[in-house]
Amino acid sequence: MLKVIELFAGVGAQTQGLKEAGIKHAVVAISEIDKYASRAYELLHGKVNNLGDITKIKKLPQADLWTYSFPCTDISLAGKQRGFSKDSNTQSSLLWEVERLLDVASEHHELPKYLLMENVKALVNKKFKSEFELWCLYLEELGYKNFYQVLNAKNYGVPQNRERVFLISIKDKDAKYQFPEKQPLNTKLLDYLEPVVDEKYFLSIKRIENFSSLENRNGWIRGERFKPHNEKSPYAYTICTTSGNRATDNFIIVPENTKAGYRLAEVGDGIYTNRTSKKRGVVQKSAIPTLKTSVADLAVVVEKDDLISIRRLTPRECFRLMGWQDDKIDLIINDFSDTQMYKMTGNSIVVHVLAGIFKALFEI
Ligand SMILES: C[S@@+](CC[C@H](N)C(=O)[O-])C[C@H]1O[C@@H](n2cnc3c(N)ncnc32)[C@H](O)[C@@H]1O
Repeated sequence: MLKVIELFAGVGAQTQGLKEAGIKHAVVAISEIDKYASRAYELLHGKVNNLGDITKIKKLPQADLWTYSFPCTDISLAGKQRGFSKDSNTQSSLLWEVERLLDVASEHHELPKYLLMENVKALVNKKFKSEFELWCLYLEELGYKNFYQVLNAKNYGVPQNRERVFLISIKDKDAKYQFPEKQPLNTKLLDYLEPVVDEKYFLSIKRIENFSSLENRNGWIRGERFKPHNEKSPYAYTICTTSGNRATDNFIIVPENTKAGYRLAEVGDGIYTNRTSKKRGVVQKSAIPTLKTSVADLAVVVEKDDLISIRRLTPRECFRLMGWQDDKIDLIINDFSDTQMYKMTGNSIVVHVLAGIFKALFEI
């Protein structure tokens, strides 16, 4: 039986991916400091040996596979990008704790045969590539052969535009590995949405009025963020107008930083709602943009009482879009606040992507 250690375990997408891939395994330990994520882990997977803060761990138990999706806070484009160099003292530099623990394992002749790293795509962008290559070199010196690739969750069964880099390391100089092939997407965002959700998830009339306000706040006009189809109209009334009343009323115009300057969003599309005129890809057709630890700047276009409207995702929908089934979600959904659950899902890895990676690794 494959013995597994999940470092930076979160809610345990890793063990869930192994289960989905049909790989018999036992999680011998995890390392996770967030009390909510740890509790969710145990509700989802049962009692686990959580060794807590990685910086305090002296030695890990022997295992065949370590996973380490270390914090992306200082690498992500959404953050300050302070990086993860060894002495930087950043959250992301916790990667080097994995180096320390691998060195200890090496001294005890207990290096795991397999390693799996996951992080945001920016890790292999120009800015951080050399640091990432240093990490790969270190692993090579330990005897690992490395394979990495950026995978987008929307190519592995869920309608979420989520690009993440995965690094597989195998302790065998002649090892071969091929990341799973892309699959056609057979589902749409609408398939993942709850038919009836609490009012609190809908943008309130006040918020919509706020969006459509033409008041000039130091050069910033909110109303220009969402425009109606009719350029002559000053208001973003399509957000709450009757769908189908007018031929062109069933969409929202979202400004974006492209030549056209805008994109149309229809029922079932996912959109960014924050400073969209500065961004590209603000509308995902029948899909959602990347879920982050807060979903405040994401919305879905839905129909409500024959009106076209926009609302936030619910925590259940976020879990579904991270590859979780409802029977698992039911185990945790009433135990945490929405904020806690958004953090769990935004931090996690899409289960199907992991299942694909593991199937390819263990040749199932
Ligand atoms: C990117 S998330 C990984 C989530 C995980 N892949 C999952 O399936 O949910 C990084 C995790 O590292 C945890 N973390 C941060 N500092 C830590 C530390 N010093 N020791 C252990 N875990 C830590 C965070 O609480 C967070 O859950």
